[in-house]
Amino acid sequence: MTGPLTLPAAPLENWLRERYFQAKIDISSSGVHNYTFGELRALDPALLGTAELDRLMFRDGPSLGDERLRAAVAARVRPGPGHVVMTTHGSSEALFLAFTALVSPGDEVVVTMPAYHSLSALATAAGAVLRPWPLRPENDFVPDLADLRAVLGGRTRLVVVNFPHNPSGSCLDPQGRADLLDLVAGSGATLMWDGAFTDLVYDHPPLADPSRDLDRVLSFGTLSKAYGLPGLRVGWCVVPRGLAHELVRIRDYLTLSLSPLTERIATVAVEHADALIAPRLAEARGNRELLLQWVAASEGGIECPVTRGGVTAFPRFNAHPDVTGTCERLLSEHGVLVVPGQVFGYADRMRIGFSCPRAQLEHGLAALTEELGAHAHGRRWGTR
Ligand SMILES: Cc1ncc(COP(=O)(O)O)c(C=O)c1O
Repeated sequence: MTGPLTLPAAPLENWLRERYFQAKIDISSSGVHNYTFGELRALDPALLGTAELDRLMFRDGPSLGDERLRAAVAARVRPGPGHVVMTTHGSSEALFLAFTALVSPGDEVVVTMPAYHSLSALATAAGAVLRPWPLRPENDFVPDLADLRAVLGGRTRLVVVNFPHNPSGSCLDPQGRADLLDLVAGSGATLMWDGAFTDLVYDHPPLADPSRDLDRVLSFGTLSKAYGLPGLRVGWCVVPRGLAHELVRIRDYLTLSLSPLTERIATVAVEHADALIAPRLAEARGNRELLLQWVAASEGGIECPVTRGGVTAFPRFNAHPDVTGTCERLLSEHGVLVVPGQVFGYADRMRIGFSCPRAQLEHGLAALTEELGAHAHGRRWGTR
């Protein structure tokens, strides 16, 4: 049997579902810390002012999304001429529409592993045969195109990638992006490019949207990560013009369109993207240093790939084959939320989100040091 009804439980969401609301300090999140409506209104007091909002009519929205919002996204993403922007309820909806439209039972689908659950589970539910492209822990999860070449074949229908990568924070550099696009183009497969963290990079400018160089590609973006607006539930996909009606056909059974209020707020966010993203990225850059110092102070007890993109790190705790219990105690004893690496298939790791106010990160890491020390059988973990 295939189809959405065969979707398995999502371990990441199961972990966060209740705990997210219990936590006093959240160092689990893959997005930057959140903005308020008031902060958005300050960016465009007219468009989000009471008078304008009072005039807003709750009509159905257009199937591909509000024109002004789509134009704002296009102005930022700058898709290739053969592609259009469709706005969606988070990039989650876009991923759902795309996998449903593109995958038939028996298709081979290559996916970067470990993976955010949608990227693998939606393919499998649509009947795909999964071919993992392993991002190797011994290589700090840095993508190696030789590993992709080894799994890419004549029957590959889709190559699904996520750079910067959740949870490891690894990324391609611009040359790596170009090489990946060449490789996929030569294979005849379609590329699905999950760019949820595109704007959150430290070592080079954000990678250009792949639709500028490749025809058979869909890319995905969201306001949930770099914009600090996960609760707005707005994302988008950039799709080949000829495929957009296929996504709309499926959306007609799912959500039909977005709320005009949501799209109005999202328009202000995208039109003022830099004002939202830049301060959070600067703060994350400093917090990334703090985290690396904390790792160094463990004197080898903790190993952690340097985050090249996104705001998560994926450290390994050498004295702890399974840190799930530590994560539980961290919340119950200290009110600090992290994600156990188990949900991504690595029980000896945690996903730590470092985009929070600095003092919270300091507090969260100190609590983690204490918790680990209490259970490390005398091993020195350091404080920071
Ligand atoms: C890699 C990746 N893609 C997609 C999503 C979906 O996010 P949203 O639906 O909020 O846009 C997430 C959320 O964590 C993610 O980490």
